[in-house]
Amino acid sequence: MLSEPPRAQAGFSDVLQAKICNELETQGWLQQDFFLPDELIIALAAECRQMSAAGSLKSAGIGRADGQVLRPDIRGDQIAWLKAGQSMACDRYLQIMEDVRIALNRTLYLGLDEYESHFAMYSPGTYYRKHLDRFRDDDCRTVSAVVYLNPDWLPEQGGALRLHTDANHTEDVAPLGGRLVLFMSADMSHEVLPATRDRMSLAGWFRRRV
Ligand code: OGA
Ligand code: MN
Repeated sequence: MLSEPPRAQAGFSDVLQAKICNELETQGWLQQDFFLPDELIIALAAECRQMSAAGSLKSAGIGRADGQVLRPDIRGDQIAWLKAGQSMACDRYLQIMEDVRIALNRTLYLGLDEYESHFAMYSPGTYYRKHLDRFRDDDCRTVSAVVYLNPDWLPEQGGALRLHTDANHTEDVAPLGGRLVLFMSADMSHEVLPATRDRMSLAGWFRRRV
C-alpha cells in the first residue's frame, strides 16, 4: 500500500496570510474561523481548564505593573500568562502566532517585535467593560489577538466580543472555538459581554519595542 503523501503544513497559508493582512489594513479588525486546528484547540482548552481547576489562574487587574488594581466591576476574568516551554500545545500556538507576526511585519511594516499572551477564563456572568488595549503610559501594544477555545458556542449563550468599529457601529463576535480575532490595539474600543457558560480564550498582543 502506498503511504499517504505529506500534507501541506496546517496553519498559515499564503492565501490566509494575505487575507488577514488585507482585512486588518482596510477595516482595522478581522475575524478568521478555523484558524487553529481542532486538536490544538482541544489541547489548549484542556490546559486552560486544568489550570483553572488547579487554582493557577489569577484574577486579572486593570492598569499596568505597579498601578494594577482588581476591579471585578470592570473586568472579571481569571488569567495566566503563557511561558515558552510550558506545554507542547502552547508552544505550537506561540509558533503560529510568530508566523502571524512575521507576516504582519512583511506586509504592513508594523515593526512588531514580540508577542505576549495569556489564557483567560470568564466564568458565567463575568465581563470586561468597554476599553482600549493600549495603556496610557505604554504604547507598545500594536495588534491585539484573541483565539477562542469554546466548542459549540451558541449565540444565545452570550459572551460576545463587542467591537466598537466606529462611533455608530458595533460588531459582535461569538467566542467560538478555533476563531481568531485581530484588531488594532490603539484604535478599537471593545468589551466582553457576560455569558451563561465558562468562556475560555487566549488573548495576546503583538508589541513594538519601546
Ligand atoms: C482583553 C480582551 C477580549 C476577548 O483581554 O483585553 O479584550 O474576547 N479580551 O476575550
Ligand atoms: Mn481588550
